[in-house]
Parts: sequence; structure tokens; C-alpha cells
Amino acid sequence: MALLGRLARRAPWPCNVLLYGALFAAGDAAQQRLRGGPADWGQTRRVALVALAFHGNFSYAWLRALERLLPGRAPPAVLAKVLCDQLVGAPVAVLAFYTGMSILQGKEDIFLDCRQKFWNTYKTGLMYWPFVQLSNFSLIPVYLRTAYTGLCGFIWATFLCFSQQSGDGTAKSAFRLLWEGKDNTDEKAPEK
Ligand SMILES: *[C@@H]1O[C@H](CO)[C@@H](O)[C@H](O)[C@H]1NC(C)=O
Repeated sequence: MALLGRLARRAPWPCNVLLYGALFAAGDAAQQRLRGGPADWGQTRRVALVALAFHGNFSYAWLRALERLLPGRAPPAVLAKVLCDQLVGAPVAVLAFYTGMSILQGKEDIFLDCRQKFWNTYKTGLMYWPFVQLSNFSLIPVYLRTAYTGLCGFIWATFLCFSQQSGDGTAKSAFRLLWEGKDNTDEKAPEK
């Protein structure tokens, strides 16, 4: 842990990129386990590639820019950061995920998932992230915040991968999977 901490301080950007790749790959593996069926490692590789190429870099640059724009931990600055992140950062990240995955899957219409699932996914994120961020700053002790952020990121990555492969971006489709073990894939025409 001490070694990891030192590494993260010396090379925060590459560490952030690797962390995102790992979180998304783990999230994809988790949702595949939940849905049952044989593991699709090609899919997990594509998810990891999108996260390494885009989300790890984007989140690093974006959160740094946000901190420079609205520095500090005072409640107004925290609220403004949460708001900005939801208005700008979150939609960019969701759109990039759906589009990036469609490109890597060789889909004909790379914006189809965005059109069908973006709005649902964005709304689900709006119910999730502000709650996570505000609880992070108010309820979670400082020494647990990194772990808490990682856990919440993992849950979101799992949801995002599930939505891309099978769900429709609503929290409802994810809860249906969790509680009834039902997967929406079978109801839809096979997509390629
Ligand atoms: C939680 O707080 C930590 C430490 O202040 C911060 O690095 C992290 O980005 C925060 N996570 C979220 C999701 O706001």
C-alpha cells in the first residue's frame, strides 16, 4: 500500500489511467458474472481499452481543471464542482463510452446506443453521482475517501457496461437483473 501511495504521488496521471482501466474491466467482468453465460473476454478488453484511452485521461484532466476553476473544500465550491461535473463531465464520459464501444465492436451506426441509451443513463447518473460526491465530502472519513470513490466508480462502471451490453441505461433494468436475475438481452434482436 505504501509503495502504491508513493507511486500514485510520483506518477498520478499514469496511475489514474491504469486505475480507470482496471475499474472498468472489473465492472465489465462483474456484470458478465451477474448476467451468467460464458465470459466474453473480448468484450472486457474493449471496455478496458476505452477506459484506458479515454476515461482515465479525461477524468484526470477534467478534475484538475475543475479544481483550478473552483478551488477548495468550502461548501459553495464543492456544490459548484458537483454541478459542473454533472452538467459537463458526466455527459461527455457517457457519450464517449457508448460511442467508443460501438466503434470497437464495429457497429454500423456508432451513435445508435447514444441515441437510445444516453438520456436514461445520464438521468441514472444524476441520481447517483451527486449523492456519492456529497456523501464523500460530508459523511466519509478522509482516510476512506479514496477507497469509497473507487468502490462507487466500480459500481458505476458495472452499471455502464451492463447498460451498453444489455440494459437500456435505466436503474430499473439494472435492479431487475439484480433481483430477478433477468437479463434483457434475450428480448432484443441480436445486435452487431
Ligand atoms: C472523494 O474525496 C477524495 C478526497 O478529497 C477525492 O480525491 C475524490 O475525488 C472524491 N470522490 C468523489 C467521487 O467525489
